Amino acid sequence: MKPQLKILMITSECVPYAKTGGLADVVGALPQVLQRMGHEVIVVMPRYGSIDGARYGLRRFWDSMGVWMGDQLEWCAVDSADNDGVPTYFIEFNQYFERTGLYHDAEFNDYWDNPRRFAFLTRAGLQLSHDLGFAPDIVHVHDWQSALASAYLKIWHWNDPILGGAASVLTIHNIAYQGKYSASNFEYIGLQWGNFTPDKFEDYGAVNFLKGGIVYADVVNTVSPTYAAETRTPALGYGLAPYLNDKGTDYVGILNGVDYTQWNPAVDRLIPAQYSPDHMAGKAVCKAALQHRFGLDADPDVPIVGVVSRLVAQKGLDLLASAVEEILHDMAVQFVILGSGDKGLERYYGGLPGRYPGRVGVYIGYSNEIAHWIEAGADFFIMPSIYEPCGLNQIYSLKYGTLPIVRATGGLDDTVIQYDEATGNGTGFKFWEPSASAIYFTTGWAVSTYFDRRAHIDKMVQTAMHIDYSWERSADQYLALYARAIEKKARL
Ligand code: ADP
Ligand code: GLC
Repeated sequence: MKPQLKILMITSECVPYAKTGGLADVVGALPQVLQRMGHEVIVVMPRYGSIDGARYGLRRFWDSMGVWMGDQLEWCAVDSADNDGVPTYFIEFNQYFERTGLYHDAEFNDYWDNPRRFAFLTRAGLQLSHDLGFAPDIVHVHDWQSALASAYLKIWHWNDPILGGAASVLTIHNIAYQGKYSASNFEYIGLQWGNFTPDKFEDYGAVNFLKGGIVYADVVNTVSPTYAAETRTPALGYGLAPYLNDKGTDYVGILNGVDYTQWNPAVDRLIPAQYSPDHMAGKAVCKAALQHRFGLDADPDVPIVGVVSRLVAQKGLDLLASAVEEILHDMAVQFVILGSGDKGLERYYGGLPGRYPGRVGVYIGYSNEIAHWIEAGADFFIMPSIYEPCGLNQIYSLKYGTLPIVRATGGLDDTVIQYDEATGNGTGFKFWEPSASAIYFTTGWAVSTYFDRRAHIDKMVQTAMHIDYSWERSADQYLALYARAIEKKARL
C-alpha cells in the first residue's frame, strides 16, 4: 500500500460553489477521487458573495485569521463545508470577494484589484493550512490565480515546520490568462523586490503571476498532452514557452477526467429522459423536448447542432458566426446555442432566433440545466476552438452520443477520433484550419453523413458512448506527478 498523501488545493473556482468554466469541474472532481483512493485533501477557495451559504451548508469555521500581505496584516474569516467528503474552506474577505462576478463585472471588465484579490487568496490558503496544523506533502494550485503559492512556499515558508516540507504542483488550465499586472502591486503581493527579475516575475515591466509560478513550482502540468506540446511553441505559449521548455520533463500533459455521476445520460436527473447505449429511446425524447423548449420545428429527422460555451475569442465562436448563416441557408439543420461573455457575440447570437424562427434556439446566460439538455438533445456538438487546453464539453458529448465537430487542437484533438468514411469508425468530425469555411465544410460533412450514411452515425454514437474518461485514470497520473514533485523537492 502506497503511503497516504496530504494535499492542499488552492483554487478560484470549484463545483458546486462557484464556476465560470472547466477549472471548477476539475477541482470539484479530482479531490474527491484522490480522497476515495485514500489520500487526504483539503480545498481552499474564496467566499464569493454569489455563493449561497445556506444551500451548500457553509458554517463559520474561524472568526478571524491574520494574513500578511507585504507589510500589511489583513484580517479575514473562514467558513467551511463538506464537498462530498472533501473539507472545503472559504476565505471570507468582503472587501475582495463580496461581489457578483468572480473575475469581472457585469460588463465583462476585469476587476482592477484582481492581482491583490488572488495573491491574498493564495497567501490565505497557505496560512489556513499552517494554522490548521495541516502539513501538506503537496500544494496543488491552478492557473495564475493561485500560481504564487510555489513562490510563497520557497521564499517564506521553506523553514516552516508545517509548510516547509510541501512540494508544489501547478496546473495550467489556460496559458492565455497569465495574471499580468502593474508592478505597483508587487509590494502588496509580498515577494521581495529581489525576485522582480526577468527570469522570475518581471515581464516587460509588469508582474506576471503565471510566469513566476512556473519558475518556482516543483512540477508543472497542463490538461492534455497535445496542449502541453503546443504551449512549448511560440505560437501557443503566449510568451511562456521558454519557461515551460526550461522545466524539461517536469512539464507534462494530463488529460482531464469527467465526473460521470454528473455527466452520464443513464443517471442524469436534469434531462427529460435517461438513456444508455442499449436503450436509446430516451435520446429522441430529449431531442423533442429540446426542440419544444427552444421553439424549434418539431422534427425528429433534422439534425441539431449544439453549442455550450463561454463566448470568448478562444472558442472560435466569431468564426462560427461567420459560417452559421450560410450553413442555415444551405443545410437542413437546427442550432441550439447556450453561452455568455463577449457582448458583441451575445448580441449576434441573441439575434439569430428572430431571423431564423424554428431553426435556431439561443439562451444567453448561464444555465447548468440547459447545458445538460443540449448535451442530451442535440445530434452534434460544435467546438471550433482556436486553442483548447482540454475542453470538457466534447468529452461530455461523447458520453451523451452527441458527436463532436471540433477543430483539432489541444484536448479536442486528443479526445475525438476522426470519422472514417470507409468503415464508419471514429467518434466525431475534425478540421484543422481556423476558418469559417472549414467550419462550413466540416458541418456539411457531418450533416450529409447524418442523412446519407445513417448506419455510420449510429455506429459512431455507440463507439463514443462506450469511451471512458473517468477521473480514476487521470488521478493515477496526478499521483505519479505528485511523486515526481516530492522527489524533486527532496533533491533541493
Ligand atoms: P472552459 O473551461 O474553457 O470554459 P471547458 O469545456 O473545459 O471550457 O468547460 C466548460 C464548462 O463550463 C462545461 O462544464 C460547460 O458545460 C460549462 N459552461 C460553459 N458555458 C456555460 C453556460 N453558458 N451555461 C452553463 N454551463 C456552461
Ligand atoms: C480551461 C480550458 C479548458 C479546460 C478547462 C479545465 O478553462 O479552457 O480547455 O478543459 O480549463 O481544465
